[in-house]
Amino acid sequence: MFVFEFDFNVSEKLKGNVKKGEILLKKFPDGEWYARLKNDIKNEDCVVVKSAFNNEELIKTILILDALRRNNPKSITLVLPYLVYMRQDKIFIEGEALSAEVVLKILNNYADKIFLINSHMFRKEGEFNYKGIKIYNIDAFDEIAKYFKKLKNPNVIAPDKGAIDIAEKCGKILNCDTDYLEKERDRITGNVVIKQKDLKIEGKDVLIPDDIIASGGTMIEAIKIIKKQNPASINLACVHGVFCDAENFLMLKILSDEIVATNSIPNKVARIDLSNLIAEKIMKNFKL
Ligand code: R5P
Repeated sequence: MFVFEFDFNVSEKLKGNVKKGEILLKKFPDGEWYARLKNDIKNEDCVVVKSAFNNEELIKTILILDALRRNNPKSITLVLPYLVYMRQDKIFIEGEALSAEVVLKILNNYADKIFLINSHMFRKEGEFNYKGIKIYNIDAFDEIAKYFKKLKNPNVIAPDKGAIDIAEKCGKILNCDTDYLEKERDRITGNVVIKQKDLKIEGKDVLIPDDIIASGGTMIEAIKIIKKQNPASINLACVHGVFCDAENFLMLKILSDEIVATNSIPNKVARIDLSNLIAEKIMKNFKL
């Protein structure tokens, strides 16, 4: 088996005959990317571990896959710790493109199986068959909850109803109560409004987990409600730290005691490494 990994250290954690693959990636002066495979992968299982966390990384991922596919591998397993466009998983307003499906269909042209991590589209851990595309969605909230075992008097609050499962999972691991906030997002402006709610969190070390922090709007609104109720500390956690609004990111750092993300996207608070979790799922998949 060949493992082609970018910013992750999975190959060393795998058992069996695992070789580290090499792909030359080069950017032309006009901004276009070039990829060239450097190994003989004929009849080999190939695993690519690469986050496609923006448009550029997505196109690099597609070129890497094409370089592999043209060289007759036995199989290609694609592990995308973060994959862009997965939040547009429905037609919310008539006339929209279904971005998540578009991206998955492109990747499916090359990969035999796609592993995602806490994909907004699939939410739960497990196998999915999306219109013939084989997906395995990994849940990384065990890793996040374990990181917060250091909280003395924890309480977990989901920032919206969609994150209740996440909060309950963390609550179980931290052995504490959970609650949720009621959020509404204006689909046109993107603005978030969260209703007032009595949460019984006075003196508690509150953990607010979410799958993604993108603009940070959801977390800022959640903190506003939570701060008024005198918690001992406010801790923010996400699997995918997109942090696309620098001012809001700074605000989140100021308003919270800790903010942490996994390394599915490189950023300054990516302190939870997903490499072990990915290695465990690959070993299970290939029965290593
Ligand atoms: C929404 O359903 C997601 O779970 C996140 O709460 C949301 O995507 C976060 O986005 P933002 O940081 O832009 O509010």
